[in-house]
Amino acid sequence: MDVTSSTVFIPGATSGIGLGLALRLQARGSTVVVGGRRRELLEQLAVTHPGLGTVVIDTTDEASIAAAVTELAQRHPTLDTLITMAGIMEPEDLLDPASLEVAERTVAVNLLGPIRLVHAFLPGLLAQPAATVMTVTSGLAYVPLPATPTYSATKAAIHSWTESLRVQLADTRVQVVELVPPAVRTTLMGQQEEESAMPLEEFLDEVVGLLQSDPGAQQVLVRRVGFLRDAVAEGRYPEVLAALSGRHR
Ligand SMILES: NC(=O)c1ccc[n+]([C@@H]2O[C@H](COP(=O)([O-])OP(=O)(O)OC[C@H]3O[C@@H](n4cnc5c(N)ncnc54)[C@H](OP(=O)(O)O)[C@@H]3O)[C@@H](O)[C@H]2O)c1
Repeated sequence: MDVTSSTVFIPGATSGIGLGLALRLQARGSTVVVGGRRRELLEQLAVTHPGLGTVVIDTTDEASIAAAVTELAQRHPTLDTLITMAGIMEPEDLLDPASLEVAERTVAVNLLGPIRLVHAFLPGLLAQPAATVMTVTSGLAYVPLPATPTYSATKAAIHSWTESLRVQLADTRVQVVELVPPAVRTTLMGQQEEESAMPLEEFLDEVVGLLQSDPGAQQVLVRRVGFLRDAVAEGRYPEVLAALSGRHR
């Protein structure tokens, strides 16, 4: 992905990592459209960030995705990059039957959402001279946080799905990249002030640096995510799972 000249759509960029990445890509010369459900926030963003495109989208709703595809094809026919950023993270107590609702919602947004988005946007991306699909997983795809079982499972599933997508698109001009954030200070699950989470700006600096230094990379891995992502390879999985389990009790 070329951060300086791409035309990028980021559904899930009304806040946090998505918005931060959108503004950095725009600052480097790319054309960026942000998406999300919060219409008022999108309207404000369009005013505070001239040139930033906005699209209202609910990634759990096929009709909403289809409308976004049509709108973007008209407004940005050179759209060549899709970043499937939208996600939710909610704790679940598996001994409480009410947590099933959380699980179902999490699968709809975090697992089915990116799959639907890629299906909907792929025909347009395949028609471009070069294109990128970036999925967004988590260090928790590699070692689960037991307090958020379905969240962790959806991120592991998207990691796996991304690997298959890359193989299936190998003979096309669509590059497939997995962004693997560690804990970052956003409002995703109220960790915006958590000392142990990575400051958002620091994370974004490292991500954009990696995208620039290695535009062909299959995964975007900031140093901090190695603790989780490399736990199995480095024989640390039991200790890391035990450390993450502490947070549940
Ligand atoms: N922060 C972390 O520690 C961390 C770590 C690993 C991975 N990640 C991943 O990074 C991504 C961004 O998270 P964040 O930390 O930046 O949290 P965030 O600030 O809460 O951002 C989540 C974004 O997803 C959007 N969204 C949620 N449900 C949606 C839906 N149904 N349709 C469309 N958009 C939807 C939200 O917009 P609306 O509410 O306006 O719809 C918001 O823009 C997520 O996939 C998350 O799992 C984050």
